Amino acid sequence: QTIYRKDYTAPSYLVDTVELGFDLDPARTVVANRMTVRRNPASAQREIELYGEDIELVSLRLNGRTLVEGDYVIEGTLLRIPNAPEEATLEIETICVPESNTTLSGLYTSNGSFYTQCEAEGFRRITYFPDRPDVMARYTVMLRADKDKYPVLLSNGNLIDEGILPDGRRYALWEDPFKKPSYLFALVAARLVCQEEDFELADGRTALLQVWVEEGNLDKTDYAMQSLKHSIRWDEERWDLELDLDRFMIVAVGDFNMGAMENKGLNIFNTKFVLANPRVATDVDFQGIEAVVGHEYFHNWTGNRVTCRDWFQLSLKEGLTVFRDQEFSADMIGTNTGRAVTRIDQVRTLRQAQFPEDAGPMAHPVRPDSFVEINNFYTVTVYEKGAEVVRMYQTLLGRDGFRKGMDLYFQRHDGQAVTCDDFRLAMADANGRDLAQFERWYSQAGTPVVQAETRWDEQAQTYTLRLIQSCPPTPGQPEKQPFHVPVAVGLLGRDGRDLPLTVDGKVVGTTAVLELTEADQTFTFTNVAEQPTPSILRDFSAPVILKYGYNDAELVHLFSHDSDPVNRWEAGQRLAMSRLLKLSGQVAAAGNADPKLDVDDVFIDAMRKILADDTLDPAFREQALLLPSETMIADQLDVVDPLAIHTARQFVRAAIGTRLRGELEAQYDANQTPGEYSPDAASIGKRALKNLALAYLCAAPDDASLDLARRQFDGATNMTDRASALSALVHARAPAAGDALQRFYDEFQGEPLVVDKWFAMQAAAPTTDVNRVRDLMTHKAFTLRNPNRARSLVSTFCAGNPVGFHAPDGSGYAFWAEQVIALDALNPQVASRLARAMDRWRRYTPDLQARMKRALQQVAGQAKLSNDVREVVGKALAN
Ligand code: ARG
Ligand code: ZN
Repeated sequence: QTIYRKDYTAPSYLVDTVELGFDLDPARTVVANRMTVRRNPASAQREIELYGEDIELVSLRLNGRTLVEGDYVIEGTLLRIPNAPEEATLEIETICVPESNTTLSGLYTSNGSFYTQCEAEGFRRITYFPDRPDVMARYTVMLRADKDKYPVLLSNGNLIDEGILPDGRRYALWEDPFKKPSYLFALVAARLVCQEEDFELADGRTALLQVWVEEGNLDKTDYAMQSLKHSIRWDEERWDLELDLDRFMIVAVGDFNMGAMENKGLNIFNTKFVLANPRVATDVDFQGIEAVVGHEYFHNWTGNRVTCRDWFQLSLKEGLTVFRDQEFSADMIGTNTGRAVTRIDQVRTLRQAQFPEDAGPMAHPVRPDSFVEINNFYTVTVYEKGAEVVRMYQTLLGRDGFRKGMDLYFQRHDGQAVTCDDFRLAMADANGRDLAQFERWYSQAGTPVVQAETRWDEQAQTYTLRLIQSCPPTPGQPEKQPFHVPVAVGLLGRDGRDLPLTVDGKVVGTTAVLELTEADQTFTFTNVAEQPTPSILRDFSAPVILKYGYNDAELVHLFSHDSDPVNRWEAGQRLAMSRLLKLSGQVAAAGNADPKLDVDDVFIDAMRKILADDTLDPAFREQALLLPSETMIADQLDVVDPLAIHTARQFVRAAIGTRLRGELEAQYDANQTPGEYSPDAASIGKRALKNLALAYLCAAPDDASLDLARRQFDGATNMTDRASALSALVHARAPAAGDALQRFYDEFQGEPLVVDKWFAMQAAAPTTDVNRVRDLMTHKAFTLRNPNRARSLVSTFCAGNPVGFHAPDGSGYAFWAEQVIALDALNPQVASRLARAMDRWRRYTPDLQARMKRALQQVAGQAKLSNDVREVVGKALAN
């Protein structure tokens, strides 16, 4: 059943207070819910509407009177009470079974303890409630549980009372002083320990900060705690937003569907984004923890204090909060190139995941118009493209203008449930601007294409830039209107320096932000005395595909000189992409014959120059040398031959490894990080460049390179170097790989997050086929029930190993169907993510396409399927 945004109606009843009592038992938890409700003057509806799912209704009382069937009506998940009074107290008792809740939505157990996940619609799996984000209430929560098994009892807000009951159980009473939507409710009842600290806030108050983990993990909480303190400071300094509670808790849980959840005062995290120390976590893990701790903390204002009116507005909080966590991570590094490297990572994510989503059957606007299952719309479009949309306001309005907009947004909407339009209007009104056209970024799906043409008029000393925009059709949207696109442009002179820019008679510096609003628009720069090289879309100023007929010489010029690091990197990506496309075409055309591949000196020399340029940040050089992924190459092609793409890319990697051997070895030596491990940006950059050098050396493996990898594996004192060396050995099929994998497992079998890496590394290796994956599934450490573990092996193989997954005999697809079906019976959200590995099936060679279609049909034909998976495979087959 499809739900439409246009059908929104206000809630019939509002809830003022909720008192929840939990008698926690894994096999039978009793929930008593007493709430005060009143009719919503903004609604014409007279019935109370409550949702409930997978819970047993024991009793329902209205103003003290027990209701019997007929007084209320249950249809599916909806419970209606007709003829309700203006105001009422509802008392509802229900029972749920946390230990058999494998969906990890609602109240569930993980390793014997209790946790909740209520976003988006998990609260209705705990009690009957108007479970929609525009119903905001004040919560009081009483938890009761066995005192030895669950010594820690947590919920939102402040701890009011705790102790031991006459029957020997433990109790804790929590009160959240802020009204909130039900999706922000949380409880934890567990055997946990915490790192805690008093932290002084900007206004002089002190808050208690806690990071809760299972015993044995207290050696892995420092970085999360440090990230939390940095987040609080940053929100104070950059936005004047303070922590509004006396206590802020983070809890890590091993079974979790997503990354983390911003429950008011009680953030619950996937262990992956909390636990870290140098022995078990990589640089990327440390960066992930900082970003996600920040993200969830920042939600306290963008999401909790101001929340969403309905789930179509999800990007209101997610796009904005991703933007805020991106800015946080960039500010934590501080340097200009450091910022640029984080920006390059963001561009990579968009191209790797969002552009393909925008071009596939699940394409949807940042603010979707409809959905079957909201959990399917926690997507890269809502999150990352949503963050790009927020970033464009800042690009158009300037940093100060954007800040004014944010201030007005909080002034107007604190304590409210609002829409993306409200956010846009706050931005417009605070700056006296008309941002009506900008709304199309929220309503139109698909990635816009901006085609550029340039002309230098020597006589007139003018340079004209013509920009033509279009957007391909997406499901349900055949026709698109022009977007309001900020296009940041610079012009490089022959010497590589930026020319001063004059637009409309005004000197505007060296980067101009042009506002493209028409389908076809021309901009003129005056006083241009030489033929420049255009640097268009600097800092990736809009989430579009820029087409411009650069030749190699221009790209090399930009790659060597562009003052904008993102476009400098981009020039290298363009150089690489043209080679990769040509080579994969050659491989595909050659069939079984020798395709006689070659990489030209222009490309290799450009790479050599960047690699050896010690004036450049190692982190930037690593980004510049990293080739576009196989997915990004595939996204450029109308007919995708995964093996040809892989062969071509491997060929270029090996060519770099061979022809730049001396330079790579030199950088390998020059970028060692001896001494104590530190996850600071400079050290992370060095390790990244060093390990990329190692990977390239091992891409054309000679004994010396494999030896280097083996020695790094043996001698590494941190997980970044350890895992990089192991991955280099595995990908090179080195004789030492098998032994190294075994030793790695033996050493880390007690660390679940490292065992995930161990599975993932093997799942992603191009030498791994479906039989090997099935083999690994019989390993004693494997289980489909833990999302991290299932993803590490099954999803990594299906979505991260194109060669193995797209085996010509279709065995990968049959495996996919089998696993989607198996997972769906346990956890629809995880199954549905896996299902999306087939999104782009229409783009593959006819043979593969036919086999993919059969696998999709097999899943779609299942009698019992969740809404989640049904929507994804249904849309794949329909579009
Ligand atoms: N709001 C969370 C975050 O972005 C994600 C929760 C998603 N949960 C879900 N079941 N879809 O931090
Ligand atoms: Zn979020």
